[in-house]
Amino acid sequence: MILTHAHWLTADGTFQEGSILVEQGRIRLEPGDPGPEPGPDVLDATGSLVLPGLVDPHVHLRQPGQSGKEGVANGSRAAAAGGITTLLDMPNDRPPTTTAARVAAKAAIFRQRCRVHWGLHVQASRRPVDVDPSIVASAKLYMARGSPAPAIRDPDGVEAVLRRWPRVTVHAEDEARFDPQRRPHDLARPREAVVAALATLESALRRIPEPRRPRLVLCHASTREEVAWVRRLKAEGFDLWGETCPHYLVFTADDAHRAGARLQVNPPIREPADREALLEAVSDGALDWIGTDHAPHRLAEKTGPNPPSGIAGAEWALPLLLRLRDRGILSWRRLVEVGCARAATCYGIAGRDGIREGAVADLVLVRPSRMPQSEPPVTRAGIHPYQDVPLDWQVQATVVGGVVVYRDGVFPEFQGELPGRRVIP
Ligand code: DOR
Ligand code: ZN
Ligand code: ZN
Repeated sequence: MILTHAHWLTADGTFQEGSILVEQGRIRLEPGDPGPEPGPDVLDATGSLVLPGLVDPHVHLRQPGQSGKEGVANGSRAAAAGGITTLLDMPNDRPPTTTAARVAAKAAIFRQRCRVHWGLHVQASRRPVDVDPSIVASAKLYMARGSPAPAIRDPDGVEAVLRRWPRVTVHAEDEARFDPQRRPHDLARPREAVVAALATLESALRRIPEPRRPRLVLCHASTREEVAWVRRLKAEGFDLWGETCPHYLVFTADDAHRAGARLQVNPPIREPADREALLEAVSDGALDWIGTDHAPHRLAEKTGPNPPSGIAGAEWALPLLLRLRDRGILSWRRLVEVGCARAATCYGIAGRDGIREGAVADLVLVRPSRMPQSEPPVTRAGIHPYQDVPLDWQVQATVVGGVVVYRDGVFPEFQGELPGRRVIP
């Protein structure tokens, strides 16, 4: 395929004009040449910006076991609509993805159903498991229960996980500090639970001799304490990476209290000072990327008496990043880092460091136009989490390895193989 009349963002944050040719799924740039006339396999990008596809290393597509909440086919459509071309799926499935057999069974589902590139996280458990670390993005350590498998929060348990796996992603809330009867939600899961989890992680890391320490990813940072912690340990040279999510950058606890279950998420959304610290950290690079933590639940569950936590944000991912760009939080160059390059580097996914010669042809066409929030969303969650937030960019088309997977609200059907490829290993 070829993108003509293209205006693309380069990895150094500047724009170039010309055409983008895709050869065997890779990018070839023809600066200055607008390309051929319209025809088959020609995508005219007049009036759009061409951006690199996003790498979202934190989604919950909930298959196997809970595809009624989303599923791989539908969730990967929602991701494509949000400009995500590579996703890494979390392991808190039913049953939890904790063994080699379960990773293999889950991979078979993704191979058949995922529209975009994909990889899997395994869930760390106390029992020794047979999973080869090289076939998963990371071992996910839940210090608060997030699946039928129990949480691991004690110092010895945490240290054992950090010794076992070369890459660990962590949900850092110590569930022993929860007070489930308290309301609202952010008091039931106070920030002290996050601070306690960080202390446990840090002392476990320090007990492990330096060459044997794993790469650690702090998932969904939501507090100023996490920002300070990441800054301090990075400055000391720890192999630590930090993620935050769009909802922590847009909303505050007051918004969450007003919205109720729609914005109920773990960890909870905190105070304006936390949001400020997170915005500063994504701007200056202390935090590495913005993952959506796409966590869909059924509308009936969310509106019921005991709503589950989670915000399904994948299909708003790129418009939300562009909003941060428009507000001066992200430069164009930072947008490439935060949107794809940093996560790709952390997880060892090649060819996702921005639009350049030879990179994988994962591309998104966007145009400046208010995103409608009235139609039903793609996600089975059925909720627009950002319904009151004006989003001034729309994804027009998403290209995965040179194949259009989304265009103007339509998802083409595929006979046989899907364009999404497994990226790890
Ligand atoms: O709010 C959340 N929902 N936080 C998590 O850690 C898990 C997620 C889910 O799977 O629903
Ligand atoms: Zn989590
Ligand atoms: Zn999550």
